[in-house]
Amino acid sequence: MKIALASDHAGFRLKEQIKEYLIAKDKKCHDFGTYDEDPVDYPDLAYVAADAVHRGDFDRGILVCGTGIGVAITANKVRGIRAAPCSDIFSARCARAHNDANILTLGARVIEKETALEIVETFLQTSFEGGRHLRRLEKIQNLEDKCLS
Ligand code: RB5
Repeated sequence: MKIALASDHAGFRLKEQIKEYLIAKDKKCHDFGTYDEDPVDYPDLAYVAADAVHRGDFDRGILVCGTGIGVAITANKVRGIRAAPCSDIFSARCARAHNDANILTLGARVIEKETALEIVETFLQTSFEGGRHLRRLEKIQNLEDKCLS
């Protein structure tokens, strides 16, 4: 599984900790930035990583900003992206099992490192359940086709 990573300045440190965790677990990941704590605009970073997932270059994405909200709003503008802001394990599991989320977003000012890493692990390990959830995702897809033409 190939993972696209990105953050703004607020998410930089947590993104680095997540990257370290993924590398230690032998996961393939690419860091789209930012690379320090100088202020940047989260849409610029979130878009590049989300677009890489959209193009199929990566299977999943993990985006970090202060709240996890700005990067989620941005990523969800990209066709085929289902970005889920998660602050707990249950939401991370449901984001995969029910929503087939392909991008996880995290708030570095919301959760601690240990929680973030547990959320990341859950997000990467949980499979989509399909079944009734597939019909709902198809409805989202139909809306995307209608609204993003
Ligand atoms: C940056 O100060 C902050 O607004 C950003 O990281 C994020 O929380 C936006 O949603």
